[in-house]
Amino acid sequence: MIHELLKQMTIKEKIGQLALLSPFFLIEELSKEAAGPIKELDLDEEKIFSIGSILGVRDAKEMIAIQERYLKKSRLKIPLIFMGDVIHGYKTIFPVPLALAASFDPENARVTAQISAKEANVSGLHLSFSPMADFVRDPRWGRVVESFGESTYLLAECAKAMVEGYQKEQPGGEKLGACVKHYAAYGAAEGGRDYNTVDVSRLFLHNYSLSGYRASVKADVKAMMTAFNVFEGVPCTINTYLLRDVLRTDWGFEGVTISDYFSLGESIRHGVSENARDAATKGLMAGLDIEMVSVCYLNHMEELIKSGEVPMSLLDEAVLRVLKLKDDLGLFKNPFIGASAEKEAAYLLHPDHLDLSEKVSRESIVLLKNTGVLPLSTHNKVALIGPFVTNTRTNGPWSWHGYNDHNMSLLEVFQRGELEVTFAKAGSSPEDYSKDDYEILHEADVIILYLGEDRQRSGEAHSLTDISLPENQISLFESVRKLGKPCVVLLQNGRPMVLEGILDAEAIVACWFLGSRSSEAIYATLIGENNPSGKLPMSFPINTGQIPVYHDYLPTGRPVSDCLRPGEYESHYLDQPNEPRFKFAHGMSYSRFLVSNLKLDKTRITAAETLLLSVEMKNEGPYPGKDTILVFITDHFAQISRPVIQLVKSKKMMLKTHETVVVEFELTPDDLGYYLADGSKIYDKGDFTVHVGTNLDHLLSAKFTLI
Ligand code: BGC
Repeated sequence: MIHELLKQMTIKEKIGQLALLSPFFLIEELSKEAAGPIKELDLDEEKIFSIGSILGVRDAKEMIAIQERYLKKSRLKIPLIFMGDVIHGYKTIFPVPLALAASFDPENARVTAQISAKEANVSGLHLSFSPMADFVRDPRWGRVVESFGESTYLLAECAKAMVEGYQKEQPGGEKLGACVKHYAAYGAAEGGRDYNTVDVSRLFLHNYSLSGYRASVKADVKAMMTAFNVFEGVPCTINTYLLRDVLRTDWGFEGVTISDYFSLGESIRHGVSENARDAATKGLMAGLDIEMVSVCYLNHMEELIKSGEVPMSLLDEAVLRVLKLKDDLGLFKNPFIGASAEKEAAYLLHPDHLDLSEKVSRESIVLLKNTGVLPLSTHNKVALIGPFVTNTRTNGPWSWHGYNDHNMSLLEVFQRGELEVTFAKAGSSPEDYSKDDYEILHEADVIILYLGEDRQRSGEAHSLTDISLPENQISLFESVRKLGKPCVVLLQNGRPMVLEGILDAEAIVACWFLGSRSSEAIYATLIGENNPSGKLPMSFPINTGQIPVYHDYLPTGRPVSDCLRPGEYESHYLDQPNEPRFKFAHGMSYSRFLVSNLKLDKTRITAAETLLLSVEMKNEGPYPGKDTILVFITDHFAQISRPVIQLVKSKKMMLKTHETVVVEFELTPDDLGYYLADGSKIYDKGDFTVHVGTNLDHLLSAKFTLI
């Protein structure tokens, strides 16, 4: 059908399908707007009513109105596709992706994506710009909040689960297409400064940067968004190596490619396209299908095709992919598929969705330190202080449809609970509390300080050179500390933070931005109704100067022989240790989980075989709870230097108090392989060590050989 349709299309109609614009142009009366952006962008009614997709829409009503208006004017009645950023929920907001990764259970990414899709579908969206599968190691970069952290394994598993969750067909036949982003290596911006230069090798690209996008393609993701940055000096949006050689030829991707916001136009600012006409040429030649917001294609492609500078066959290929996407998502059968104001009223913020948000939030919280003050006892009298105590803005960045006014503050949740709150006041500095306040603070058994960063401190274009807690918050902690009361520090954070000023608190809990039911989940954790099971998806450095600091580093020829007294010509700093403050996968529980009895079914495997391994895991109590068994490998000898340790498998387990289970894993040679600079995957024969445990400090190890 779409091939037939293509044959009937004029060049202008084809080019229109490759344009993605804001709904503004279709809502406004064009005659009134003739002097505004329409004129600036050199657009006219014909071009506007030929466009193929829309970026963002308010609700089902608006979507239906725009689609109706558009279809009335469209000669071939090709429906618009509505796209938008549904990053960690639509109206019901789930934990930010970094927090989802901290739950160390990709199923959480899957189920939350499924619910996000359900809510977005009824509000008229067909494709979400998610997951963000950028590999990250630099917490200065504000967008780590949207990432799945520093492990390629965790990243790939979460990205895959999220794609599958979004794209699962809903009972009404509708589904939300996923658009993975930002291809490629956007997370490697130098110095962690957003939109900055990226300069990574092909070896790095294939082994690290690509892992999340590759997993998404394997999960049949519908679309791929290009990144703002350059790769090998060429903007990703016009990068033939990335868009044709790797994506189409090596990976066989048949979905749609989409530029990031204005990124085709920005290839001019990168100094690689001469002007908008050149950008249009380079974009289509490189394999960019849809142009988001800039209008190089709309304004120049016709001329380029007519002059033969750009072959019609390339335009046709791109248009066919867009039409296929619309067909796959059911738009030709029903241009309004799923969108319904009645269903919005029934589904959005449905109590089941909110309950899921709380469940996943509980699993995402990471207990960084606990000397035993937590869980609080019902007899404890508590005081709540710090900037976020009365805060309801818990949704975090990228939650444009989720309103924070549905959320409860931590104080409100405490007030409904059993514990006596002797004092509560929001404030960020010691001066925000009077002498009388400090007097009353004395009456509490435990002082809870809710510190960290507000949502404006992380996200796109929100990079930092210093990721420490703000000075005033540290001073607040110090002044409270003098009271001699046990202190629990809760962190609201969208990134790993430097926590040196508050390390001697009795307990520290990383609470991220958890979304709609953040405060309820935090409260449940504090009182022990939830046994924390989250782990850090990224290392927390001692100071910003340690960045990048991560667990799967390469061996050096000069390793430190003694961490406490490194030798002079060994790889170390003079002023700080090499290890971060809190390692990747660190996260405590109120219970003690013991891992023992690692067994391998063989010590030699061939490339055709699978290695079976098992360990015993025991919950020694005193609470039921979850913990994750992690399987790492070390490849001792290969063609290239391989990480000292690399996560390849994990399983999160629920154990009753004193229960013991046997946890089994299968390792295939695919888990042992790596990529060469040309993108081919290889497995080297030789010795490996497998390490199993719940954290990097306590691992059981065994050797085996790939023959
Ligand atoms: C961001 C993308 C986002 C797009 C559309 C850009 O600024 O980089 O992640 O999907 O805007 O909102």
